[in-house]
Amino acid sequence: MGKTWATLGVDLHVEPAGSGVRKGLTEALREAVRSGRLAPGTRLPSSRSLAADLGIARNTVAESYADLVAEGWLTARQGSGTRVAERSVVPPAREAAPPRREPAGPAWDLVPGRPDLASFPRAAWLKAARRALTRAPHEALGYGDPRGRPELRTALAGYLSRARGVRADPERIVVCSGFSDGLTLLGTVLRRRGLRSVAVESYGLDVHWNLLHRSGLRTTPLPFDALGTDTRDLAGARAVLLTPAHQFPMGEPLHPDRRAAVVAWARRTGGLVLDDDYDGEFRYDRQPVGALQGLDPDHVVHLGTASKSLAPALRLGWLVLPPSLVDEVVSLKGEGGWSTGALDQLTLAEFITSGAYDRHVRSARLRYRRRRDALVAALATRAPDVHATGIAAGLHAVLRLPPGTEAAVVQAAAFQSLAVHGLSRHRHPDAVVPHPDALVVGYGTPPDHAWSGALDALCRALP
Ligand SMILES: Cc1ncc(COP(=O)(O)O)c(C=O)c1O
Repeated sequence: MGKTWATLGVDLHVEPAGSGVRKGLTEALREAVRSGRLAPGTRLPSSRSLAADLGIARNTVAESYADLVAEGWLTARQGSGTRVAERSVVPPAREAAPPRREPAGPAWDLVPGRPDLASFPRAAWLKAARRALTRAPHEALGYGDPRGRPELRTALAGYLSRARGVRADPERIVVCSGFSDGLTLLGTVLRRRGLRSVAVESYGLDVHWNLLHRSGLRTTPLPFDALGTDTRDLAGARAVLLTPAHQFPMGEPLHPDRRAAVVAWARRTGGLVLDDDYDGEFRYDRQPVGALQGLDPDHVVHLGTASKSLAPALRLGWLVLPPSLVDEVVSLKGEGGWSTGALDQLTLAEFITSGAYDRHVRSARLRYRRRRDALVAALATRAPDVHATGIAAGLHAVLRLPPGTEAAVVQAAAFQSLAVHGLSRHRHPDAVVPHPDALVVGYGTPPDHAWSGALDALCRALP
């Protein structure tokens, strides 16, 4: 069995190999020096203390050191103990690797999905982190409740009911690593319950469809017409994933008749609605549309995330669950090893309760609104054949293009060093819907100083 030698303050695992202890120790030390695990000049422990560490005779260590000194791996000098020889490691000859060329990224990024990372409230977040850690009980550093920290669940329950109209009880909130983790948990639970498919919108994000596929579920697209996603005929479905407050990517809220229809269907059949409320805070021209979950908390799961309001890197999201799903989701979360760091959860709890979250959202809303207004004004003067839709909310707009021009415009944008998505990449492969030509322009992404340059490049690419 190997032993760990900690006398030097470094943990060096020594595995005396072969027949004798002395031979084994010598080989282990030689290998440690050869491989560089023991750096040149490192002072080795005295033979007495290493012998005590390893539980072997002092003479055995002294003889082993003497062998390695004779071989040139170690040096021994009166008064300075035994050290690793200065030039004992000959690094293996390596072919000089050709310098790596990073492909140059686009100069401007208008791909939807990210907020302005440059305006992440670093100072306020640090302040909240310091306060949260100072106040946290020792117990908070353990594994804790798989639902997540109670401080955050309580803060979220208050915030979500106040700002999003969610009927939230901390006991029914599960903190997860972003929306994607929450969707994966729900997909797995639904599959275990015997579901084979989930109805989705004809336009959406392929990453989310793929997460459901990985849970063993098919995704079947709902019809989409002039009023948006059509929820009137959900016969045969047992679960549906929607973006009711702000359809992604089309940008309109779910029509009130269709909100009512999907809730009526869920009540009638015991079906489940997954309400992806990814950017509900960002609405510019009137009050935000309340979360669908408020209409029927027994049949609607609310899925929220800090990815748009703060930053995707936090990987913080939450589920507000109907009572009938809580146990299954919580036990699955426990099986999966928790996966959401408690310190960031405590920080977000502090950030919300101190009012910093509201302040940040308010200033981000102003900034995005200004960008949206600039986008609409620039289109009116520089690209009058292009109409922006879905502009009342969120961090992206859909620019309707003349028929048959989408691919050419995406290519023209690439020539302008501008990354932007065509609408066609957000269409479900099985969707039977018209194919309008359009761009999905994320105006949240560039930092403030790059916004006018990005807008300029966009206008140059438009017909
Ligand atoms: C429609 C939609 N839902 C949810 C999310 C959030 O995903 P996550 O919380 O996993 O970052 C995004 C982010 O891009 C999104 O566009």
